[in-house]
Amino acid sequence: MSTPEPIKWKNGSLYLLDQRKIPFEISYVKCVNYIDVAEAIEDMIVRGAPAIGIAAGYGVVLAAEGGICGVQSAIERLSKTRPTAVNLFWALKKMEEATASFLKATDCKYSSSESVEAKLKDYLLETANKIHQEEIQIENLIAFYGQRLLPERCNVLTHCNAGSLATGAVGTALGIIKMGKAMGKDVRVYCDETRPLLQGARLSAWELWMEGLDVTVICDNMAAFLMKKGGVDLVIVGADRIASNGDTANKIGTYNLALLCRHHGIPFYVAAPRSTIDMDLVDGEAIPIEERRPEEVRSFGGAKIFLDDISVWNPAFDITPNDMVSGIITEVGILEKPYKRSILEAASKSLCL
Ligand code: MRU
Repeated sequence: MSTPEPIKWKNGSLYLLDQRKIPFEISYVKCVNYIDVAEAIEDMIVRGAPAIGIAAGYGVVLAAEGGICGVQSAIERLSKTRPTAVNLFWALKKMEEATASFLKATDCKYSSSESVEAKLKDYLLETANKIHQEEIQIENLIAFYGQRLLPERCNVLTHCNAGSLATGAVGTALGIIKMGKAMGKDVRVYCDETRPLLQGARLSAWELWMEGLDVTVICDNMAAFLMKKGGVDLVIVGADRIASNGDTANKIGTYNLALLCRHHGIPFYVAAPRSTIDMDLVDGEAIPIEERRPEEVRSFGGAKIFLDDISVWNPAFDITPNDMVSGIITEVGILEKPYKRSILEAASKSLCL
C-alpha cells in the first residue's frame, strides 16, 4: 500500500487530503479559490513545510481568474496563514516572479480581458506544477544521500511527519528511511506521537506502516528512556526553516530530542530541501514561531482533558541550535559543520540528476 497523495490538481480545482482525519478517514477537500486554500493551510488540512508551499502555489493559480489584483490578494492572504515554514514564502515568491515575467512577456499590465486572465492562469499553473514536480526529484536525492547514514541494521527515531503527507513526494526524513529499506537495510522506526496534534502517531506511523516498515509509536516523554536502553541509533527529523548558520526550526519537541541525543551520544540529523533554508536569517533567533490555539492542547483526540480556565502555551515549533545538528541532508549532499560555510556552498550548487 502507498500513501495517498496529499495534493491533487484536477479539472481546474485543488484537492487536499484532509490530514486531520487520517488514519481513520481518507477524504479530500475541494478548494475552488485562494481563500479555501488559505483556510485549509490554517486548519492543517494540508501541513508540512514543502506541502504548504506547493498548496499555496496552486492557491495563487486559483486567484488568476481575478487577474493581477486577484493574484496580489492571494499572495497577501496566503502569506498570512502560517509564519514558520519558509517554503510557503519561497513558493509565493516564485509565483510572484512568474506573474511579473508573464506581464513582461505579454505587456498586458493594465488589461482585464478574459483571455489574458486565462493565459495568466495557464502560465501560473505551469509554475505551480513545476514547484510540485521538482519537489519529487529533490526528495529522491535527499533520500539517496541520507540512506548512506543508515547502518545495515538500525533503529531510527523521528518526530512529527516529514513524509509523503508533508511534501507531496517521498518525504524528507521518512524518504530516507523508506530508501534505506528499499536498499535492503533492516530499519526499525520509532515515531514520537508528537503532541498536541499527533502527527507522529496519526501520520508518520500510518505512512510507514502502509509502506511495510517496522514501526513503533512512543509517547513524546518516552524518548529519553528508549535512548538510555540503547533503542535508538540515530534521529532524523525534517525542518520548517533553517537559518543560514544551521539553526533549525521544526515541530515543537525536536529540540528536546537534540538535547537527549547530545546526552546519549546519538547522531541527530535534519533532512530538508534547500528551499527550507532562509539565507536572509543569520541565526534561529529571528525565525518566527507560530503559536496556535489553546484548544489544541486542551483536548486529546477530540476529548477535553482539562478546564478552559487554565491557561495554555502552544508554540508549534522550536529551534535546535546548529551545534546539536550532526548533519543537514539536502538534495546536493549532506552538509557538515561549520554550517555557515557549507550552507553557502550548497546554495550555489546546481542539481545533479
Ligand atoms: O505543524 P506541521 O504539521 O505543519 O509541522 C510539520 C513539521 O514540523 C515537519 O517536520 C516539517 O514541516 C518538515 S516536512 C518535510
